[in-house]
Amino acid sequence: MEQLRAMITGIQGYVPEYRLTNKELEKLVETNDEWITSRTGIKERRILKGENQGSSVMGAAAVKGLLEKTGTDPMDVELIICATVTPDMPFPATANIIADKVGAKKSFSFDISAACSGFLYALQLGAQFIQAGTHKKVVVVGADKMSSIVDYQDRTTCILFGDGAGAVLLEATTSEYGIRDAILRSDGSGEPYLHMKAGGSRKPATHQTVEAREHFAYQEGSTVFKFAVTNMADVSAEVMERNGLTGDDVAWLVPHQANKRIIDATANRMGVGPEKVMMNIERYGNTTAATIPLCLWDYESQLKKGDNLILAAFGGGFTWGSIYVKWAYDPK
Ligand SMILES: CC(C)(COP(=O)(O)OP(=O)(O)OC[C@H]1O[C@@H](n2cnc3c(N)ncnc32)[C@H](O)[C@@H]1OP(=O)(O)O)[C@@H](O)C(=O)NCCC(=O)NCCS
Repeated sequence: MEQLRAMITGIQGYVPEYRLTNKELEKLVETNDEWITSRTGIKERRILKGENQGSSVMGAAAVKGLLEKTGTDPMDVELIICATVTPDMPFPATANIIADKVGAKKSFSFDISAACSGFLYALQLGAQFIQAGTHKKVVVVGADKMSSIVDYQDRTTCILFGDGAGAVLLEATTSEYGIRDAILRSDGSGEPYLHMKAGGSRKPATHQTVEAREHFAYQEGSTVFKFAVTNMADVSAEVMERNGLTGDDVAWLVPHQANKRIIDATANRMGVGPEKVMMNIERYGNTTAATIPLCLWDYESQLKKGDNLILAAFGGGFTWGSIYVKWAYDPK
């Protein structure tokens, strides 16, 4: 039997309307546009406003658009995996809510939690179901409403994050195109540097945890920065090396958008010039599980069949990874 491979056959993103600019953040915390731009590359982020609007609203919008764009009947979708650290609620899974919203009544669905590496983890998981031959149409979503866990009194984190979602459709192929290799890693000793202190089983919500502002993302930025630079570059170089790729063979680096300086360092290490690096951090900030599909969505019209893409991410956990994709279609 020929070996099956999963290929991305469609991509769609969704970002909310509201733009939170650096200028507006200057009114909330002691910061300025020059500091934010030079230290992170971020100019503005999108924020999902309104009551009862969770990550599933953005995830469902992305998936609905994806299914329409690819002419896919929602009833043919067999699996939806949603990567998120800001689920609508602890349970049921946000993927389940998205499946219901888009009418994917015959799918099974679940969430995975791997912070900023979530989309890569979910993509590899989804690909395995295709490769196993058990599932023909799999949707992978990255959706995060980071504004729901960001402390707008903490200048070290509130400048970084935004809201958004992106989704891809995976289908089977026996060709050379598709997801060709993945290296995924995690290290739980990274917990002290990036986490949310309360609201889980270790420290359930109380009046005290709310007053102590422990339901927001906590980060020791400079430590995370150091680990991100080393680990994202290491796995990207490793995935290139074991597939015999040099910087010249890579058409695009698709990096997680946490900080422009981390992205530049990774590209340097890989020998990939800035013209081949997907970047939209200036418009969306760090949307956690959504950054990589939002990049693919933004650059879709420039992608050609056969392009070698290296996807790379680093995030809370710590989690990190890199995936080698041979792009499967020309601009439509
Ligand atoms: C958060 C981050 C941008 C901070 O940049 P940095 O160069 O490491 O800055 P530091 O944290 O060392 O802070 C430097 C100074 O700027 C100050 N500062 C922090 N945030 C600021 C802000 N928004 N505006 C102005 N000054 C700020 C600090 O208080 C510090 O001042 P001090 O020297 O007087 O103590 C950077 O560490 C980063 O991007 N980290 C990784 C983020 C990441 O990848 N996170 C998610 C994983 S996906």
